[in-house]
Amino acid sequence: MTTREMQDEILRLKQEKSVCVLVHAYQDEDIWEIADYVGDSFGLSQQAAAAKEDTVLMCGVRFMAETVKILAPQKRVFLSHPQAGCPMADAVDEDILAQVKADTPDVPVAAYVNTTAAVKALCDVCVTSSSAVKILRAYPADRFIFLPDPNLGAYIQSQLPEKSFELLPGGCPTHLRLTERDIAAAREAHPDALILMHPECHPRVAKKADYLGSTTQILSYAEKSDKKEFVIATENSIVEHLKFRCPDKKFYPLSRDCVCHNMRLTTLPDVYRFLATGEGEEILLAPDLIEKARRPIDAMLRYGG
Ligand code: 13P
Ligand code: SF4
Repeated sequence: MTTREMQDEILRLKQEKSVCVLVHAYQDEDIWEIADYVGDSFGLSQQAAAAKEDTVLMCGVRFMAETVKILAPQKRVFLSHPQAGCPMADAVDEDILAQVKADTPDVPVAAYVNTTAAVKALCDVCVTSSSAVKILRAYPADRFIFLPDPNLGAYIQSQLPEKSFELLPGGCPTHLRLTERDIAAAREAHPDALILMHPECHPRVAKKADYLGSTTQILSYAEKSDKKEFVIATENSIVEHLKFRCPDKKFYPLSRDCVCHNMRLTTLPDVYRFLATGEGEEILLAPDLIEKARRPIDAMLRYGG
């Protein structure tokens, strides 16, 4: 079967079986093309709440599928690849978080949506990279505990100097691969290019970028800009999508190492197999966990929508 034939079959099966396919922007182009919706973490959460189909396939990583299940517990939710996790989300120690909360019971805990359902259940409000500043500016508190990405936390702190954030350790191993050395090399190799970067990068690197934004904010900035050359400092799939979308512009990765192997696990045949056979990992969460984890996600959608 060719890629085109497989995509046609996926589109037919999706319709026949009434399955909504949600796709994070870090997936490959052949998966974008069969999606009902492609976007960043915030957009995916909004779509999860709105999808009319009874079954959702999330092509992304586990915390994204869990978020769909939390927002739409009546739906059957499947993850595109059972091993697609997020090392940053999985690294949070719930016991340490519970201890921090016990030490500072009056300080709300703000969590990047890149967290497990069990961690969300301990938090007050979730944020995503595109919505964090808006949400935490509006949230009625001056102090926060923030996890699990101190880099995004430092970016939020720089935008909201009137509030204070205690940043718990953690971070995205993919974006942490980008260094100040990479920036110096890119400036020399592409002096006319703008450097567009994700705020999951280290603050020392981030302060040397020309623009900071979430995955879809970077895509839209490059598409709308009058500039012709860009260095992309986020997962390298975004470089390929931009080359495809803006053939008259030039895009270079800041580093060839900025690849999230978890996001890249899902393939088009995985999507096809799920739709053809129904085999796949269903996300199952206990009702009381759903209820507790939903509060911070509802707060995120309320303050960020
Ligand atoms: P956004 O989708 O919010 O840009 O986050 C990027 C990411 O690392 C997702 O895992
Ligand atoms: Fe997790 Fe980083 Fe991969 Fe996103 S890019 S899934 S934050 S490891």
